[in-house]
Amino acid sequence: MYSRIAGTGSYLPAKVLTNADLETMVDTTDEWIRSRSGIERRHVAAPEESTSTLAAEAARRAMQAAGVTAADIDFVAVGTCTPDFIFPNVGTLVQRHLGIHDTPAFSIETACSSFMYSLSMADKFIRLGEAKCALVIGAECLSRIVDWNDRSTAVLFGDGAGAVILTPSETPGILTTLLSADGQYSDLLYFPYGPSSGFDKLRAGAPGGISMKGNEVFKVAVNTLSSLVDKTLAKAGVDKSEIDWLVPHQANLRIIQAAARKLDLPLERVVITVQDHGNTSSASIPLALDAAVRDGRIQRGQLLLLETFGGGFTWGSALVRY
Ligand code: UT7
Repeated sequence: MYSRIAGTGSYLPAKVLTNADLETMVDTTDEWIRSRSGIERRHVAAPEESTSTLAAEAARRAMQAAGVTAADIDFVAVGTCTPDFIFPNVGTLVQRHLGIHDTPAFSIETACSSFMYSLSMADKFIRLGEAKCALVIGAECLSRIVDWNDRSTAVLFGDGAGAVILTPSETPGILTTLLSADGQYSDLLYFPYGPSSGFDKLRAGAPGGISMKGNEVFKVAVNTLSSLVDKTLAKAGVDKSEIDWLVPHQANLRIIQAAARKLDLPLERVVITVQDHGNTSSASIPLALDAAVRDGRIQRGQLLLLETFGGGFTWGSALVRY
């Protein structure tokens, strides 16, 4: 038994913040942002929106594409590092928004890798016959945890959500997933306050937001993703020439280009949305996937390599026959 992607969906908040807008907010330039990251614009959630409302909208669209209803869903996994609350978890809030009842529902907090971790878990539940219709989401409101006075991070991140529906299939489907992490790098990319550490400072109005040693993250990301590609292909017994589409995490165009070079894939075979979405952490891969499915680039039967790297550090991949 395998799992397969029965439908995809995504949602981006209406408000767009361009690099020109950011030039008026911090000491930066459109040229710097484009040349260092590839980002041109990003979406920002409206005050009444939250991670769970973005997630629910992406989920509705994925359910519609898959032809399933709330009553069919029997597993809800959400990847996010910007949950609405400490608890209840975003999975349960999505249940509530969509009228899904009596299913496992949870969120996973492995930063930019949390959609991949969620996808891998849902895949296992389906393979084991314990789920028949899994809703898997990556959703973020990173605009809420960015320090808008810090030019080194404020220009990078965006809000959005993407979702997939996984159903059982006798043929793959998801061929393999690979997850990993290394906590020794936890101080290179982090948010400085949490419920059991520094929450009192946050409540008292302490400044700060996402903190990243960008240059150091960049180097580890490129090297880690390079070996991740090798390990994923070896695990599945697939040659890189068989890959139709690379659907990478959208943190930086230069990191994406390095991954494409590693696979000898022309950029026309790489789904690139970083220019329009910025870095949406866990949402970036399902957002990119949905964009390329809906505009007809990704076709049924094609082989996709999904790969990601993020805070923790955490990383992961999936080889998917769409
Ligand atoms: O999604 C999770 C994983 N995250 C990533 O994979 C991100 C990895 N890192 C990156 O994408 C890149 O490192 C960045 C895009 C974040 C930065 O690019 P960089 O080429 O590594 O630049 P840098 O951090 O080395 O900074 C170069 C210079 C510095 O000035 P000095 O020290 O050379 O004088 C920064 O202060 O650019 C300066 N700088 C800026 N200048 C204009 C930093 N931010 C800005 C800015 N505008 N927004």
